[in-house]
Amino acid sequence: MKKLRFAVMGCGFWSNFQIPGWLESDEVELVALYNRTLAKAEKVGERFGVQRIYDDPEALMANEELDFIDIITDVDTHLKFTEMAAQKGVHVVCQKPMAANYEDARKLVEVCKKHHVQLFINENFRWQAPIRKLKQYIDSGVIGRPFKGRVSFCSGFPVFDNQPFLKELDRFILTDVGSHILDICRFLFGEAITLQCLTQRVNPQIKGEDVANVFMLMENGVHCYAEMSYASILEKELFPQTLVLVEGEKGSIHLTADYEIRISTRAGTQSEIVKPVLYDWIDPEYAVVHSSIVGAQMDILKGLQGGPCETTGDDNFNTVRLVWASYYSADHNCMVKMEDFI
Ligand SMILES: NC(=O)c1ccc[n+]([C@@H]2O[C@H](COP(=O)([O-])OP(=O)(O)OC[C@H]3O[C@@H](n4cnc5c(N)ncnc54)[C@H](O)[C@@H]3O)[C@@H](O)[C@H]2O)c1
Repeated sequence: MKKLRFAVMGCGFWSNFQIPGWLESDEVELVALYNRTLAKAEKVGERFGVQRIYDDPEALMANEELDFIDIITDVDTHLKFTEMAAQKGVHVVCQKPMAANYEDARKLVEVCKKHHVQLFINENFRWQAPIRKLKQYIDSGVIGRPFKGRVSFCSGFPVFDNQPFLKELDRFILTDVGSHILDICRFLFGEAITLQCLTQRVNPQIKGEDVANVFMLMENGVHCYAEMSYASILEKELFPQTLVLVEGEKGSIHLTADYEIRISTRAGTQSEIVKPVLYDWIDPEYAVVHSSIVGAQMDILKGLQGGPCETTGDDNFNTVRLVWASYYSADHNCMVKMEDFI
C-alpha cells in the first residue's frame, strides 16, 4: 500500500512523542514540519531526519503533496490550520482538545465536512493498555451489568512546568484533562443522558479551574462520576495514571495504582498487572500515556485508509459536548440534559 504522506504543524513539547509514535508505522511518511519559530522545527527535523521545514503554513500547503496533516499547535490555532488544510483537500488529524471553545469545535467539524476531508482527533487516553483491558473485562460480563463507575485523575503534579501555556487558559482542567477523562467515560459506558458539574480553582497562580467533578447518568443506566484535579496532594503521586472503579451486579473491577486491575466477585479477588509497551522514545515515567499515542494513531491510520476508526471528528464532538455541558452546568449551577445541549 502507498505510504501516506503527512506534515506536522507545531513542533513543541508533544511533538516529541507524537512524531515517533507515527514512525512506529511503515505506512506513513513524515515529509515536512511547520512551526511558528523556525528554529524549533529545525531541531525536531534534525532529530527525525526531516529536511523540509517551514515557518509559513501557506508555503507548507502550497509546496507539499500531503495526504494528511497532524496539528499539534496551541489549541486556539487548531481551527485556523484545519481550515487551511481542508481547503486544500488534505485530511486532518488534530490534537485534543479539538478547539478553544464549543463553537470553534463545531466549525472545525463542519469545515472538514464542507470540503469532504476526513477529521480525526488524536484522543489517546482511551488507548491506554489498562483502560483497553478494563473495557474488555466489562464487556466479558464478569461483573454482570455495570451500575456505577468512577473515573479519577487526581494529582498534584506540576503540569505547568512542561506546558506553561496551561496557566493562561481561562478554562483549564475540563478542556485539558477533562477531554481525556470524559472520553474514557464515553468509551467505557457510552453516552450521557444528564450531567451535573462543580468546578474550583485551588491554585491561585493560574487563570482557569484546576478541580472538576462531573456526575452523569449514562444511557446504559450507569451512574458515572468523573473526578479530575491538579490540586490533589495525595499519599502517592500517580500522575499521569487514570484510576477506574466499575461496580456491577456480580462484582467490581478496579483499575488501581501502577496498572493493577483487581476483579472482585463473591468468589474472591483476582489481580493482574497490565503494563504499557515501553517504546524506546517514551519517558518511562509517563509510559502509560506516551505508549497510548501509538494505539490512537494506528486506529486513525485505519480510518485514513478507509476503514473504521474510533476517534473521528464526529465521535470526539460528543466528548467536546460533555466538556462544554460541564462548564454550562458549573457556571449555572444546574443539571444539563444532554439532548438539550446542542
Ligand atoms: N494527547 C495528549 O495526551 C496531549 C499531551 C500534551 C499536549 N497535547 C496537545 O498538543 C497540543 C500542543 O501542546 P504542547 O504541549 O505540545 O504545546 P507547546 O506549546 O509545547 O507546543 C506548541 C507548538 O506550536 C507552536 N505554535 C503555537 N502557535 C502557533 C502558530 N500560530 N503557528 C505556528 N506554530 C504555533 C509553538 O511554537 C510550539 O512549538 C495541544 O493541543 C495540547 O492539548 C496533547
